[in-house]
Amino acid sequence: RIARTHAWEALDSRGRPTVACTLTLANGVEGRAVVPSGASTGRHEALEQRDGGERYGGWGVSGAVRAVNEEYARVVEGRSVADRVGIDAAVEEHDGTDNLGRLGSNAALAISLAATVAHAASERTPLWSTLTGPRPASIPMPMVNILSGGAHAGRAVDVQDFLAVPVGAASFTEGIEQVARVRAECARLLDQRGGWSALVADEGGLAAKLDSNEAVLALLADGIDAAGFGADEMAIALDIAATQLVEGGAIVLAGQGERLGVAEWLDLVAGWTERYPIVSIEDVVGEDDWEGSRAATARLPHVQMLGDDHFATNLDRVRRGIDERSANAVLVKVNQAGSVSRAERVVFEAIGAGFETVVSARSGDTEDSWLADLAVGWGARQIKVGSTMRSERTAKWNRLLELESVGDLPFAGREALAGQRS
Ligand code: PGA
Ligand code: ZN
Repeated sequence: RIARTHAWEALDSRGRPTVACTLTLANGVEGRAVVPSGASTGRHEALEQRDGGERYGGWGVSGAVRAVNEEYARVVEGRSVADRVGIDAAVEEHDGTDNLGRLGSNAALAISLAATVAHAASERTPLWSTLTGPRPASIPMPMVNILSGGAHAGRAVDVQDFLAVPVGAASFTEGIEQVARVRAECARLLDQRGGWSALVADEGGLAAKLDSNEAVLALLADGIDAAGFGADEMAIALDIAATQLVEGGAIVLAGQGERLGVAEWLDLVAGWTERYPIVSIEDVVGEDDWEGSRAATARLPHVQMLGDDHFATNLDRVRRGIDERSANAVLVKVNQAGSVSRAERVVFEAIGAGFETVVSARSGDTEDSWLADLAVGWGARQIKVGSTMRSERTAKWNRLLELESVGDLPFAGREALAGQRS
């Protein structure tokens, strides 16, 4: 049972405040968790509460912290952490809004995560083993950021994330080593081509200051080649984060001075998939462009079409996406949903309908590693947490390396990606 609730204001990897929470149980066991925060946030996400005003340039979360300590404490104290679904429901009901915006989704999620962690600690069992998913637990396939643009790199180029996926790796441990090699080769090539590899973006990737999106794509392909991998061993994933590029119905590529209609834009992207070993594309058009999403998914059946801002880890949007086939995979961000239970429902719904799931960190994240355990326990089979450096990223990779080294969990492998089965 929860005996004491204590939230405080911590810092995330961007140096902005975030909500941290420790729940102390009657048996003395503690559960502690820190909440992440995005930069390229979608309109349909659960809503964080920020203080505004002077402190931390308005990004303070003292109001959300107060909501946990003064309001949610009364809601959850006395409850059993074994009933996380009940705790999440009580918190949701107390907030009273769909997007948890009255007291803040950051306040609500802090309780949900800390309760999940406290439950595992109380049971003296690893966090992942307290979660259930539609599929058996497994070590997920990593999707690793190598080069960054968009909102994570001062808009060096338009596409937000250029990632490597070690599709030929026999294990997670091997895959991470391979991807680290690709990053090192890309850093070397970026220096040669007039970029500057000392610039690191929000998720630990290289800030890709080159002339065009395709120049970055070509650099990544060359880096993969220089690292000694073929297309069947190391593939490419893109997070376009196109919501950030939409202006009056067009896709604006500011980096290369172009303004494209959605059809023309999809032609361009389809061309990339022919020239480069691209296996996954996230948010290819604006978040509310259901028609464009459907068209892209139909056109690229062998590519995993992943909805991030498009679905916002929102069950209603995911259901509509399943009906309309506006994607074939769901990016799952726990703080878009606002609670572990809500995110879990999305995982069940997606996998039940034959969609794949990629559990994801945020660009503003923390040293906390609960995300890795969630991905394993849910059997989500893919995970995306940024690059192979910066501690808020490696905290998750290191947890997965630890879990794989113990030896009893299978690695998901390339089958984890939608569109990869023949
Ligand atoms: P965000 O970016 O955390 O800034 O939203 C991550 C992503 O778009 O996948
Ligand atoms: Zn995204």
